[in-house]
Amino acid sequence: MRKSVKLKGEGAMLKNVNNNAEPQIKSKFVLFITGNFHKFNEVRSILSSMGIAIGMLCVKGKEIQSDNTNEIAENSAIEAFDRCHLPLIVEDAGLFIDAFEGFPGPYSAYVYKTIQNKGILKLMEGIQNRKASFYSAIVYYSQKTGPLLFEGKTEGEITLTERKGEGNSGFGFDPIFQPSRSEKTFAEMTLKEKNLVSHRAKAAIKFAEWYKQTQ
Ligand code: IMP
Repeated sequence: MRKSVKLKGEGAMLKNVNNNAEPQIKSKFVLFITGNFHKFNEVRSILSSMGIAIGMLCVKGKEIQSDNTNEIAENSAIEAFDRCHLPLIVEDAGLFIDAFEGFPGPYSAYVYKTIQNKGILKLMEGIQNRKASFYSAIVYYSQKTGPLLFEGKTEGEITLTERKGEGNSGFGFDPIFQPSRSEKTFAEMTLKEKNLVSHRAKAAIKFAEWYKQTQ
């Protein structure tokens, strides 16, 4: 990864996102390459409130095997840019469980596909230390900038049981991840609530702040 863009005052920035803002005229547009509608909606809500329009494009490239989430995201961005030659973002995320030395981390998609949340809860039976974190790596790629990394991390813990909200909201590991200082799991939160604390929202806000200042 060539450049990582860091901005200060992450907490403050999260509060600055006005989810109820009047729609603004958006002159800025970026493509989000993903096949995941949940991710797209979360990021769209943030960028839209900050005056940036995004479109979703699902071009399924090969995801490299790596034990580094940033590397996976950067590679996906380069692959996607090679295909569509437009400024874009991609995101790779992972759930890092302390008691398992960070596993599944970059292998989260495979673990979710195979053992799912029930399997994680089973593996954690009898384990007292339930600390975990979610990490999001957003990579922006344009001809002008090359790959730029924006990171977000949210600490929390793995719950004892799956907890979903009404209407079955959330996706992936949302029903078993409860952020610190929250009474709800990600799955029990509305999109707006999740966007106030999530790893993805933190990364998306960093990206949006940088994009608005420079592009
Ligand atoms: P991906 O490779 O970034 O799509 O994500 C790896 C795995 O983590 C997938 O199984 C996703 O469903 C899951 N995941 C990614 N982000 C989140 C999230 O915000 N909440 C819950 N699960 C997530």
